Amino acid sequence: MSKEILGLGADHGGFRLKNSIKAELVARGFEVVDLGTNDEASVDYPDYAHKAAEGILAGTFQRAILVCGSGVGMAISANRHGGIRAVNCSDTYTAKMSRSHNGTNVLTLGERVVGPSLAWDIVEIWLATEASTDPRHTRRVGKIEPG
Ligand code: RB5
Repeated sequence: MSKEILGLGADHGGFRLKNSIKAELVARGFEVVDLGTNDEASVDYPDYAHKAAEGILAGTFQRAILVCGSGVGMAISANRHGGIRAVNCSDTYTAKMSRSHNGTNVLTLGERVVGPSLAWDIVEIWLATEASTDPRHTRRVGKIEPG
């Protein structure tokens, strides 16, 4: 299996945390596609969430991490795309369960909510946890997309 590629995106409220996560990922040998933004100029979070969702659906990368002020706008926007399951996390338990039981493919974080150390713990556990192959979970995930 080819190595996983990760998409990374942020708005002006999240680019610092996005860049700190990017540095940790690159140091550990992950390949990342940085979708921006990279400075304080005000931008619109949906633009970055949609780019990330489209990148996953096109197969450019397999999962994405998005950061805004709260993580909320990124999650709402990414979840508008069929096949995208985004979770906004501020704890490691939710990060782990969202992968195991819900097969999330987008993680969103709030730079104004979590500090860089907790954010990295969340990223690590989210990346390391596989989606469960238990039929009860795969059945439920299959039912997420409306009919
Ligand atoms: C920008 O001020 C802020 O609204 C945005 O980063 C995000 O928190 C939205 O959900």
